[in-house]
Amino acid sequence: MSISRFQIPGDIIMGENSLSQLSTLEGKKAIIVTGGSSMKKNGFLDDVDNILKNSGFTTLIFDGVEANPSVETCLKGRDIMLDFNPDWIIALGGGSAIDAAKAMWIFYEHPELTFEDIIEPNSTPALRNKAKLCCIPSTSGTASEVTAFSVITDTENHIKYPLVSKYIVPDVAIIDPIIPSKMPKHITAHTGMDVLAHATEALVSTAASDLTDALAIQAIEIVFKYLPIAYKEPNNMEAREKMHNASTIAGMAFTSASLGLIHSLAHKIGGEFHVTHGLANAILLPYIVDFNRKSTDKIQLIEHIMGFENYSTAIADLNEKLDIVSSFNALEDSPLNDENKFEEVLDRMSENAYKDPCTLTNPRESSPEIVKELFKHAYYGTKVDF
Ligand SMILES: [Fe+2]
Repeated sequence: MSISRFQIPGDIIMGENSLSQLSTLEGKKAIIVTGGSSMKKNGFLDDVDNILKNSGFTTLIFDGVEANPSVETCLKGRDIMLDFNPDWIIALGGGSAIDAAKAMWIFYEHPELTFEDIIEPNSTPALRNKAKLCCIPSTSGTASEVTAFSVITDTENHIKYPLVSKYIVPDVAIIDPIIPSKMPKHITAHTGMDVLAHATEALVSTAASDLTDALAIQAIEIVFKYLPIAYKEPNNMEAREKMHNASTIAGMAFTSASLGLIHSLAHKIGGEFHVTHGLANAILLPYIVDFNRKSTDKIQLIEHIMGFENYSTAIADLNEKLDIVSSFNALEDSPLNDENKFEEVLDRMSENAYKDPCTLTNPRESSPEIVKELFKHAYYGTKVDF
């Protein structure tokens, strides 16, 4: 096994009403970065603001972070932070709000930097001279609250950049299941399958370690047991709490072990056809598991642990329970219903997916041609048999 490094927040607070523990932060000024509407509507933004104020903080709210946060939004956040001078940045929301807060933090600590300066992996200078970061996720999926990643979109050039730096691993993560418990059914299903994709890819990754395996296996067990319950019974708080924990646990695994071809393909088909991230992963999962089987013994290991005859069949069954279709051509009301459109972009999409950084740690070698075959199997719903 090669040398591996495991970096996660020093303080991860889990459990129902763990939001109250915000009161234990020590500082003077906190800026709350959030997407806005749903956190406002459900009262969580007010809760966060009130807890901080009651603990002696002066607060400021930066709301309206868009889905796929842009460089401009991050620079706007920087300017507001430079005026306000917070010693805590509190990110409340889904992956977008947390990712934006991470980038704002970099620019706030180093206002001289441009976006181009930080695109290169690990090019970010040290942080925490001005502020620390506390993340409160509102979905059980992206796990940005524990990872060293942030995805920011250069809207001018239509390119999504994954920022990677050990310095952007948050200081505190608060995993309160009450916050995602209002997620609509289909989002519960899709984000839950994103968790399964994270855990599965971390487990079979070429950068996996004993530490990340332990976390990945635990996350897989929780997803199979509790995701169908969280989907069918949205008010079942035990299932909500388990899935919220599984998301963070899988994040702790993949922030060190990285991911694989499921994410490479999902990033590109999602970009071309606006399939949401979790849904694309859910559809791709069984196909890539079948492809990877020949190059890793970890799939057999998980079959043994879970008592599955076949892992990809078990995933397909789980998708069915969550009302997720088994191939891209079966998606309802999607531009993917047009086979010609899919075939038209297939070469470019396969080339780009092959070049995605997640491909690097996939256990089985591939090529643009192989990626193209995999896309076709997942599109037409045919078994991967090579
Ligand atoms: Fe993901």
